[in-house]
Amino acid sequence: MSLFDKLIVWSIPFVPKPIVGYFSRNYIAGSTLDDAIRVIKDLNEKSIMATMDLLGEEVKEKSQSLEAVEQYLKMLQEISNNNLDSNVSLKPTHMGLNLDKQFCYENIRRIVAKAKELNNFVRIDMEDHTTTDATIKMYLDLKKEFDGHVGTVIQSYMRRTSNDIDKLIRENANLRLCKGIYVEPENVAFKKMPEINRNYNLNLDKLLEAQCYTGIATHDEQLVEHAMQTIERLDLDKSKYEFQMLLGVTEDLRNRILEKGHRLRVYVPYGKDWYHYSTRRLKENPRMARMVVQKIFGFN
Ligand code: FDA
Repeated sequence: MSLFDKLIVWSIPFVPKPIVGYFSRNYIAGSTLDDAIRVIKDLNEKSIMATMDLLGEEVKEKSQSLEAVEQYLKMLQEISNNNLDSNVSLKPTHMGLNLDKQFCYENIRRIVAKAKELNNFVRIDMEDHTTTDATIKMYLDLKKEFDGHVGTVIQSYMRRTSNDIDKLIRENANLRLCKGIYVEPENVAFKKMPEINRNYNLNLDKLLEAQCYTGIATHDEQLVEHAMQTIERLDLDKSKYEFQMLLGVTEDLRNRILEKGHRLRVYVPYGKDWYHYSTRRLKENPRMARMVVQKIFGFN
């Protein structure tokens, strides 16, 4: 990232909320469940699967988590009623992880139980390194009771990832592999992109070779290319993996993946709590962030 882009990214928190909202509209389905359903119907018509996410994280009150649980139960019911090809993704800190671990576990358990009842699936997103142990433990505990209806996420920027993957392969885990989005200390996470990418490829190969169901979540063309080569080398059945992307990101790459006959799922966030998600997406995309800042401050 150039110094100029770093400056742009630094300035994002000072951009007025309505402007962030305007530029982020491509990344978010809207503020209501109906908005998410509409976007997913459109994706399904293009043979793209979805995972629905209610925006929210790091709640301060248990009541906020309980509201989110009700909304997730409704989401699963509406996915079934509308016959959508979609599962759901949730964040542990939205479910109250930072308030009370057992409370969080019970909340996620209610959602996974509903998913099982409707023959659907819950993906537990991975947040920053302070949540990794608890998230993996909750996943493995839930898997004992609801195998086939729950999975979690592993981040290739984490130094611990190879060890976690080895352990999770022995459990025949269902994992999404992504690079990781949180700002982590250097003793915990790789900081340089070549190291993160090397770790991604290494661990993706381990997962696919072990035939663990894997969500290959990246928009990085080189990683997608590597994944395709591994899939071909192993002559892997399509039921063993899927590619995953975020709504509104690199749609040309997404189309190329589909044209090659792979299964693809798009992450569809919705809800009123869109600000954190949007600023993160803008920080990831300096080109878009540059447009926002240029528009506000009028420089080129
Ligand atoms: P990289 O960041 O190198 O991007 C590759 C290319 O993609 C860029 O050059 C650019 O062209 C394009 N691109 C990437 N982001 C863009 C954007 N916002 N706008 C426009 N273009 C963009 N993280 C996490 O910590 N926990 C989690 O649970 C998840 N869950 C998750 C689900 C799914 C389905 C995806 C795709 C990603 C996540 N992530 C995540 C986020 C992930 O960790 C990562 O930050 C982003 O996917 C960006 O990394 P890439 O692998 O795409 O590579």
